[in-house]
Amino acid sequence: MAEKKYILYLLDADKWASPFDINVAYDAGFDVVIPYGSVTAETIRTLVEDAMFSRGLDGAQRTKIFLNGSDLNVVRDMLKTARKSMVTPFDLSIFVDPRGGYTTGSAMVAQVEAYLNKIGKTSFEGLKVVVFGGTGPVGQVVSVLCAQNGAEVVLLSRRQEKAERIAGELKELYKVDLIPKANGDDPQRVETCKDADIIFTCGTAGIQLVSLNVLKQLPKNKILADVNAVPPLGIEGINVNKKNKEHPEVPGLYYHGALSVGSVKLKVEKKGLKALMTAEGKKTFDFVDFFDTARKVYAKKKAKKAEKQKA
Ligand SMILES: NC(=O)c1ccc[n+]([C@@H]2O[C@H](COP(=O)([O-])OP(=O)(O)OC[C@H]3O[C@@H](n4cnc5c(N)ncnc54)[C@H](OP(=O)(O)O)[C@@H]3O)[C@@H](O)[C@H]2O)c1
Repeated sequence: MAEKKYILYLLDADKWASPFDINVAYDAGFDVVIPYGSVTAETIRTLVEDAMFSRGLDGAQRTKIFLNGSDLNVVRDMLKTARKSMVTPFDLSIFVDPRGGYTTGSAMVAQVEAYLNKIGKTSFEGLKVVVFGGTGPVGQVVSVLCAQNGAEVVLLSRRQEKAERIAGELKELYKVDLIPKANGDDPQRVETCKDADIIFTCGTAGIQLVSLNVLKQLPKNKILADVNAVPPLGIEGINVNKKNKEHPEVPGLYYHGALSVGSVKLKVEKKGLKALMTAEGKKTFDFVDFFDTARKVYAKKKAKKAEKQKA
C-alpha cells in the first residue's frame, strides 16, 4: 500500500490563511496543505478531532497543524484547545507562527546577538533593550527572548495601559519581568533610549518610531534593529537591506535593516516545518525552537565567513 501523505492543516483565526505560509509549507516538503480561515478557540476542537481520528495511527503521525492569526491571545487560546483535544496515541504536532511574528522576531534577535561584538558585547546578559512596538506579535517575541536571555527590557506602546497589559500577560505566560512604558514624544524617547544598548523597532508597517532628531541626541555605541520594511521605515535614515552597518548620519550607532533578516526568517520557518513533518507526538514548535534554529544559522554563517577569511 502507498505511504500516507504528509498533510498540513493551516488553521487561521483571520479570514484568510496566508499564501506565504502555504508556499513555505509545500517547499518544506508537505504533500498537501489545507487552509482554513476564521477558526476560533471553539471551532478548532472539531477540526483537530476530525484531522486526528481519520487516518489511523500512521496517518496521525503524518498529519500536522499550523496555527496562525493576528491576535496573539486568540492564537494562544486556539493552541490550548487544540492541545486539550488530542487523544494519545493520535496526538498531532503543532507549529505556531502568528502572522510570521514568531519566526521573524526570533530571526531578528538572533541577528542582533550574532553582531553584538560591534558594541563590545557577547550576550544579552545585563544589557538594556528597548522595544518600540513591543505589543505586536514581533515585538512580544523580541521582548520575551531578550528578557529570557538576561536583558533588562523596556516594552513600549503608544499607550501606557496597553504596555502594562501586554507586559502583565507576558509575565504570566513566560515568567519574564518587562518594564512597560509609553513611547511619548521625542524628548521622552531620548530619555528612554539614552542608556539602552539595543533599540528594536517592531512597529506596524509604514510607521517611523525613531527619528533622526532622537538618534542624534543619543550617546554612541548602540545597536538599532528595525523590522518595518515599508517606508517610512521604523528608524530614520537607514538602508532597509543592510545589516551591521554604521548609521550614515549618526556615527557610533550600528543598525540592521528590516529586509536583512528576511532570508534567515524564511530559512527558520522552512527548517521548522521540515522538523514538524517528522516530529513525534504532541510536540509544539514555537519561538523558543525558532530562536535556537536562527542562532544555529548565524553561527554557521559566521563560521563560513571566518573560514573564507582564513583561506
Ligand atoms: N520581514 C518579515 O518577514 C516580517 C514578518 C512579519 C512582520 N513583519 C513586519 O514587522 C512589523 C511588526 O509586525 P507585527 O505583526 O508585530 O505588527 P503590528 O501588530 O501590525 O504592529 C505592531 C505594533 O505597532 C504599533 N502601532 C500600530 N499602529 C501604529 C501607529 N500608527 N503609530 C505607532 N505605533 C503603531 C502597535 O502598538 P501600540 O498600539 O501598542 O502602540 C502595534 O502593536 C511590521 O512592520 C511588519 O510588516 C515583517
